[in-house]
Amino acid sequence: METRHAVVAGDARRLPLPDDAVELVVTSPPYPMVEMWDEAFGATASGARAALDDGDGEAAFAAMHDALDEAWAEVARVLVPGGVACVVVGDAARTLDRFRLYRNRDRVGAAFEALGFDPLPDVVWRKPANSAATFMGSGMLPPNAYVTLEHESVLVFRNGARRSFDPGAERRYEAAYFWEERNRWFSDVWTDVRGVAQGGAAGPRERTAAYPFAVPYRLVNMYSVYGDRVLDPFWGTGTTTLAAMTAARDSVGVERHPDLVAGFAGRVGEVTRLSREVTAGRLADHAEFVAGRDDHAYEMVNYDLPVRTKQERRIQLYEADSVQPVAGGYTVRHAPAAP
Ligand SMILES: C[S@@+](CC[C@H](N)C(=O)[O-])C[C@H]1O[C@@H](n2cnc3c(N)ncnc32)[C@H](O)[C@@H]1O
Repeated sequence: METRHAVVAGDARRLPLPDDAVELVVTSPPYPMVEMWDEAFGATASGARAALDDGDGEAAFAAMHDALDEAWAEVARVLVPGGVACVVVGDAARTLDRFRLYRNRDRVGAAFEALGFDPLPDVVWRKPANSAATFMGSGMLPPNAYVTLEHESVLVFRNGARRSFDPGAERRYEAAYFWEERNRWFSDVWTDVRGVAQGGAAGPRERTAAYPFAVPYRLVNMYSVYGDRVLDPFWGTGTTTLAAMTAARDSVGVERHPDLVAGFAGRVGEVTRLSREVTAGRLADHAEFVAGRDDHAYEMVNYDLPVRTKQERRIQLYEADSVQPVAGGYTVRHAPAAP
């Protein structure tokens, strides 16, 4: 199998894609009213900089979301009917004229609903509490100390009625996940995914507040099948592309900073090792899970392992064998993961 991955230096508000070009969107935009993104919104959101300078938080918040709305309208245009959009976003707490919370999750949800998307149950991703720097308000003195924001959300939206597949469609059944993975991945609270610290001036992953690989990898497996194409319009360091490559889906990423796009050349070399580790890990975890259990009545077709449901029988994992740079991106060759 071969997959194709386009990476474009461009603007999420003008996606270089025709209508109905992707089956899944997995992304994390710059978060309005989080200070590290003021520069980005200063360049893309008219009025945001002036509102911040005036200490008018509500106006800055509105201007920043107006800019994101243009990107969400593009997502609606390029996503196939029934395609899913997953948006990782957190609220922001900030003092301008006074301390308050800015509800990014609600505002992004409202934008997608206004575009005709159906909201689906979302996930709260509990990040590890990082440091006393997140300690907000007046210490130990009531009533003016504030709760620390230690979680973000994965908002999930579907573009109208769900997609339909031919009965028994091979690319869907091969892309199934294990029963115990389903129980973990489709929980509405993720406590088992490690976060990456926000802010800081060190490497590109800190500069973009990159999400951990496990976040897009899960989402790609949860909401797409083999043969699908995954879009990340706020691509950053390309974690979504790494996940799509590892999960053997096509992808396209759009990022405003050309240096981040160029920097991916150094990261893409990880893919063959990463995909071997991830697929071997999934099979080993499943073998460990079923060991000694007697409620797994079905045998897998491609692996010498029992499974609990008929839907898991034809699971086929793929490993990335080689990555080839091509004009505007990469192609990846995949081989079936050995039993
Ligand atoms: C939260 S970061 C994404 C991090 C990414 N998930 C990762 O793992 O590296 C948001 C990214 O969107 C980019 N960005 C901001 N505005 C944009 C726009 N209008 N079009 C394209 N990219 C944009 C920023 O430069 C930043 O890299």
